[in-house]
Amino acid sequence: MSSILVTMVAGRAGTYRITSQRVVRGEGLLAHGAEPTHLTVESGHLTVLPSDAAWQLRGATGAQRYTERHELDKLTAVQPGLLRPEATHGAMIAIRKTGAWWALAQDERRAIFEARSRHIADSMRFLPAIARRLYHARELGEGFDFLTWFEFAPEHQALFDELLGQLRASEEWTYVDRELELGLSR
Ligand code: HEM
Repeated sequence: MSSILVTMVAGRAGTYRITSQRVVRGEGLLAHGAEPTHLTVESGHLTVLPSDAAWQLRGATGAQRYTERHELDKLTAVQPGLLRPEATHGAMIAIRKTGAWWALAQDERRAIFEARSRHIADSMRFLPAIARRLYHARELGEGFDFLTWFEFAPEHQALFDELLGQLRASEEWTYVDRELELGLSR
């Protein structure tokens, strides 16, 4: 699987309108100049930013770390692709996990992520309403470890909020120390 590299650029114009912005935990993002109203996902890692850019975050898709074969097969069967015409609402949620999380061994992290928090098993019922993509950012030296991307139809906003409530109440989320949520529409 080849990696998809992106740069998320926030500014005064762009593909997605930022409909809400919430610092859930930890520090927010300092904007250069005026508060951004729009977000664009550019392919690749930009070296020259648009002059109106308030901030940028880079991410890259990567291999699965925790998903087991039986889970991957189930996900592949039901998960929708990005950019469905009806999925005009969405969210970008940037997340950082604590040093304690990263100090754990792989099997300990999998146990928290799935055996105890049921991240995959309990999120499955939100498919195919919610389309998603996970970008890794930690290895790129960003202030967040992950940039998570979601797309859904406007009538599924409440369902998405329910999903967020479920995950944020999980043991996995006790290891999240920075979280920024942007609501989006196009
Ligand atoms: C739509 C339902 C969802 C499904 C089916 C789902 C599924 C998954 C799967 C399969 C992975 C593991 C990828 C791997 O093996 O490396 C994962 C990781 C992750 N998901 Fe979700 N997810 C959902 C919703 C969410 C939401 C709403 C958030 C954020 C609020 C989120 C945040 C994350 C993060 C941060 C990771 C990386 C965890 C880590 O590597 O430590 N997910 N998700």
